[in-house]
Amino acid sequence: MVTKRIAVLYGGRSDEHSISCISTAGVLGAMDASRFEAVPIGITKSGRWLVGGPDPRGFRMDGDALPVVEPGEGTRDVVLDPSRGRDGFLVRGDDGSLDSLGHIDAVFPVLHGPYGEDGTIQGLLEMMGVPYVGCGVFASAACMDKHFTKLLLAAAGIPVAPGITVDTRELNLHDPATGEGLVARVREACLHYPLFVKPSRAGSSFGVTKVDVEDPAALAAAVRTAAPHDWKVLVEQGVAGREIECAVLAPRSTDEPAASWPGEIVLDRRSADADQFYDFDSKYVDSAASHVEVPAHLPEETLRRVQEVAVRAFRAVDGSGLSRVDTFVSSDGTVTVNEINTMPGFTPISMYPQAWQATGVDYTELISRLLDGVLKG
Ligand SMILES: Nc1ncnc2c1ncn2[C@@H]1O[C@H](COP(=O)(O)OP(=O)(O)O)[C@@H](O)[C@H]1O
Ligand SMILES: [Mg+2]
Repeated sequence: MVTKRIAVLYGGRSDEHSISCISTAGVLGAMDASRFEAVPIGITKSGRWLVGGPDPRGFRMDGDALPVVEPGEGTRDVVLDPSRGRDGFLVRGDDGSLDSLGHIDAVFPVLHGPYGEDGTIQGLLEMMGVPYVGCGVFASAACMDKHFTKLLLAAAGIPVAPGITVDTRELNLHDPATGEGLVARVREACLHYPLFVKPSRAGSSFGVTKVDVEDPAALAAAVRTAAPHDWKVLVEQGVAGREIECAVLAPRSTDEPAASWPGEIVLDRRSADADQFYDFDSKYVDSAASHVEVPAHLPEETLRRVQEVAVRAFRAVDGSGLSRVDTFVSSDGTVTVNEINTMPGFTPISMYPQAWQATGVDYTELISRLLDGVLKG
């Protein structure tokens, strides 16, 4: 069998740079080497594309040092020539000469967050005419921006958390009157406490604050915490319920999207300052603090409803390839969609691969299906 050459993009310009590196370690380790030849390309936090750095298979999420892509000894810059399509991946030598990285059959952008999961890299690859794994430009952009995700889902009749969207460019967040104004807007929208305040375009719980009771100063402070991540900030009513996540897979654009058994992240240990929502550390850094449980301990009927809502949500945003649909399941069985991650965490212990594992598709097979879905011929 002829092996297909797959450019695996990792790192990237978002806050989730290191998570991407860890996801990539897993993907490269599990990719079927008899069928695919991986060509890892790292992207630095400043957006430089590199080959020849440390082997990403060695990246680990332990100790204090998170993995990062950086220029160093042996690295060479990757230069793209969009007009050459799948032969448009070049490397620049020390003398400035350009060599080909060889023919690339498809790209697996294992990138999370802005400039990876938001339609920008997808647009670049569309321009080059190179097939890639995952959602296209529109679905990626729509799901990166929680404000617009909610508009699309609500239009499709899918329950979302009630909330308001605040444009922080119009606010003086250090003026005490601002908090009063925000509280008034919350009242006007009839939102109940607790509230969750979060940037519209971020991820990994960055900038998310829970506001328990009506308090202008606390609300303004929460908006200030979110604002560095995005000028667009959501103030949402807290949804009481368990956080249940469902992996959706549709490798080919013509495929009927398939939903895994829904899973739940179960915290084994809470950090001293733990709140009631998963913080960045317990979700990603401290793998001993939690584990995923698939299927989540819920009645089968509820699990089926989550699957059905997840597939509807995937379709509502025009999803393709894969997505993890995150929901809240309330005690009365209502399924509310919180967000859609179009390139979810992909380490072997992440929810997306674990959910498929528990549904009968192992990690290697999952990667093969995603790649086969976009490879032509
Ligand atoms: N409306 C809400 N109701 C209850 N919990 C919420 C709400 N919004 C966010 N959270 C909590 O905050 C966490 C992070 O928010 P989320 O919207 O998932 O953003 P991120 O993109 O950072 O994962 C969620 O996993 C959940 O625990
Ligand atoms: Mg989330």
